[in-house]
Amino acid sequence: NFSAQLRGVGAGIPQKVITNKDLEKIVDTTDEWIYTRTGIKERRVIDQELGTDLAVTAALQALNDAGIKAEQLTHIICATCTPDTYCPNNACIIAQKLNIKGQTALDINAGCSGFIYGLELVNALVSTNPNAVVLLVAVEILSLRSNWEDRTTCVLFGDGSGAGVFTHKDSKIGEKKGFANLIGLKLNSDGDLGQLLTIKGGGSAYPYKLNDKVGKEYFLEMEGREVFKHAVRSMTSICEELLTQMNLTGNDIDLFISHQANMRIIEAVGKQMNFSQEKIFSNVEKYGNTSAASIPIALKEAKEKKLIKENQKILLTTFGAGFTWGTALFQT
Ligand code: ACO
Repeated sequence: NFSAQLRGVGAGIPQKVITNKDLEKIVDTTDEWIYTRTGIKERRVIDQELGTDLAVTAALQALNDAGIKAEQLTHIICATCTPDTYCPNNACIIAQKLNIKGQTALDINAGCSGFIYGLELVNALVSTNPNAVVLLVAVEILSLRSNWEDRTTCVLFGDGSGAGVFTHKDSKIGEKKGFANLIGLKLNSDGDLGQLLTIKGGGSAYPYKLNDKVGKEYFLEMEGREVFKHAVRSMTSICEELLTQMNLTGNDIDLFISHQANMRIIEAVGKQMNFSQEKIFSNVEKYGNTSAASIPIALKEAKEKKLIKENQKILLTTFGAGFTWGTALFQT
């Protein structure tokens, strides 16, 4: 039972670029190693700005794309595992920076799967309240949670934000029509595998005392090879399950947007799903892995490049810390 419609998309990308060549000066790595193993050439990182500043840029673009005003929002959901502060939540800070108040404002954390997980909440909200106007904005600042002494992880991540504005598909609010209806969604999780990808420090299981030195558990830690295998397996099987359930096959999909973690993961899933190259969108080369923000940033760029057209089926899929994973299908 799906009623959510995507009305507009936007992105907030920091200006500062760190290339693979720059990383050669920081850790024992090479541009060639990073590019052939991951498909990443450069990533963006914050300089003066905060995550919520990027989120506000993404939100304003998405609102503009939708022809909807910030004051018309009823709900703000921020997907992040790297908020500005634990309290207040990012959603309230974003509302304050958008100069609005009164909305339901909450953060969700499902690692890299935050945006796709958020779609279930969005759909439930607009189904029970057809007047709801929901901003789902994902933002991650992984540059401050990367261990810049660990070459196996620090080369992979970047900062960024992506946003979508959603209403009920029959809503008449706003100046423009929506462009994609949510028609399928499947989510999954497995906490048994959680220790393969963590940011522990600061949580109450790993408390810091005043004047403590920050240890490496403060930063992202990952068993890359294991995560790789699970990511490919889980995204492929959940996409297959959703398509089978909907009596569709890979041939029915016009555009495939996976979480942008690593080109080899994207290609491996695309290959197992039998998607031709033209159907697979990727921008991991420019931004690295921006966690929950990667899918809405990709959606915004695909729309800008006019790859999103009328009467298409767009399949999204994600995998992240938890582990969490999922897939969503949109019809334009
Ligand atoms: N530069 C040079 N050498 C490196 C680097 C680096 N940056 N990182 C690792 N190496 C070395 C390793 O030390 C190892 O050397 P050794 O054989 O002497 O021990 C060698 O390269 C091979 O290491 P592997 O880890 O086996 O390399 P692999 O080909 O598996 O690639 C990578 C590593 C890129 C991390 C890969 O496992 C991967 O992409 N995993 C998925 C990670 C990911 O995207 N996670 C996020 C998904 S979920 C989410 O977004 C939260």
